[in-house]
Amino acid sequence: MLCATLHCRVSLKAKNQQRTFLNFSDWGDLIKAVVYRGPNQVAVEEVEDPKIEHPADAIVRLTSSGICGSDLHMYEGRTVEKPGKVLGHEPLGVIEEVGDAVFSFKKGDRVVITFNIACGHCLNCIRGFTSACLTVNPENAGGAFGYAKMGPYKGAQAEFLRVPFADLSCTKLPGSPVDKWEDDFIMLADVFPTGFFATQLAMVQPGLPVAVFGAGPVGLLAAYSAILQGATQVFVVDYIPERLELAKSIGAIPIDFTLSDPVAMIEALRSQHARMDTLLPGERKLQKIVSGVKNLVRSAGASFEVARSDPVTMIEMLRTGNPAIVQSLLPGEEKMKGVMCGIDAVGYQARDRQDPSRENPTQVISDLVRLINPTGHLGVIGVYTADDPGAYNERAKKGEYILPFGQLWEKGMTVGTGQTPVKKLQPMLRDMIIAGVAKPSFIISHKISIDEAPDAYREFANRTEGFTKVTIQFAK
Ligand SMILES: NC(=O)c1ccc[n+]([C@@H]2O[C@H](COP(=O)([O-])OP(=O)(O)OC[C@H]3O[C@@H](n4cnc5c(N)ncnc54)[C@H](O)[C@@H]3O)[C@@H](O)[C@H]2O)c1
Ligand SMILES: [Zn+2]
Ligand SMILES: [Zn+2]
Repeated sequence: MLCATLHCRVSLKAKNQQRTFLNFSDWGDLIKAVVYRGPNQVAVEEVEDPKIEHPADAIVRLTSSGICGSDLHMYEGRTVEKPGKVLGHEPLGVIEEVGDAVFSFKKGDRVVITFNIACGHCLNCIRGFTSACLTVNPENAGGAFGYAKMGPYKGAQAEFLRVPFADLSCTKLPGSPVDKWEDDFIMLADVFPTGFFATQLAMVQPGLPVAVFGAGPVGLLAAYSAILQGATQVFVVDYIPERLELAKSIGAIPIDFTLSDPVAMIEALRSQHARMDTLLPGERKLQKIVSGVKNLVRSAGASFEVARSDPVTMIEMLRTGNPAIVQSLLPGEEKMKGVMCGIDAVGYQARDRQDPSRENPTQVISDLVRLINPTGHLGVIGVYTADDPGAYNERAKKGEYILPFGQLWEKGMTVGTGQTPVKKLQPMLRDMIIAGVAKPSFIISHKISIDEAPDAYREFANRTEGFTKVTIQFAK
């Protein structure tokens, strides 16, 4: 009987009833979901309501779900994903139902879910690398919700989600839907752990200078994580003004790559350490400082942002260096004018600096290899893929690029890459939010209903003014 199969849990109930009578009598309920329909097309469609398929599953009613820069790789046709996939991998919600083998959660629990799908008992999972689980994906190591080559799993931009291995995938949260933590907790599914993991790949430690390329959600939260961990100077490179503004708002130093070579700009700013003692007395005379900075900029051969900024910004940037540290430099130490830790939070769709209208997949790694000091660390959190149907030549279609490997080797750099093993970090970052130490929601620019998703995808893909991070909100 139709009425017996209908739950009273979805907003589509009445509509579904009608549809079920007309077309889909054996389908049960339908839910709304965002479905990939080919390059630059997503549609909000009615799809089958998820069911418990395995005793370790849970069904979660979502209250928020993120749209991610990673979704755009699929949206733009730059993966091998076929039309029909439900997208999304950033879920937050309330447990609706659990399978018989789930022992940590019950109906009504508020949870955030890792974007990785992982079993918890294979060789990689027991070592903490849930991002490379060996049992969940027939094609590769590692599974995820709604993502190309990451297994057959439906995505989280939907009203309900089937969560395999729920005991591992879910992390329990306090509070209730749409409370003061909703926007911070949704960041725990991917971008906050991913930003933090980027700092681990780049071996960020207290007192080290850091450069982050890319001021999208991942880059901004990598910079934020570096600051939380006591990095001395954190530079953030991009060319989108409002994203650079956000970087500045958390205490990072914004660098607009359209103004000049970002490596030269950062090196010049780092070199100001050596001139702080001569510049500081002049601070009493504002104009003198302003012209001093302009000369410094000119002598560095760069016309960079500091030269264009207002005097207060300039002084703030100059004061970023601590003169006490400068005076204690050991002979030779001043040669370390770059940064110790560099983060690529852009990936293979990086923009060319000379002509940002075109892509240059090696731009960011090349810049970082120049900028990172000898013995420094490169963390590549931005995605590079071995299958890129939209790439500019045959080698790039296989993810093969020409990189400055000789310089990287001569500098003795370490390189870290890969998907984030979210579970390793999620509970600790959750506790930072609850304790009021971290507020990653500062990156959210738009909260939308699921029906607005196609428009939001288009605007986000165009990096339209102000579109930094979009979340779909289900609960009012
Ligand atoms: N490793 C993981 O587990 C993981 C998880 C989530 C996201 N990611 C990846 O991280 C990357 C960033 O994600 P996002 O959501 O922040 O995406 P995003 O596309 O919103 O941000 C990328 C930013 O890089 C900037 N950019 C482009 N070219 C540049 C250049 N040459 N120099 C400096 N900045 C440049 C863009 O203007 C944009 O602001 C993506 O590749 C995404 O797929 C990886
Ligand atoms: Zn994501
Ligand atoms: Zn596993």
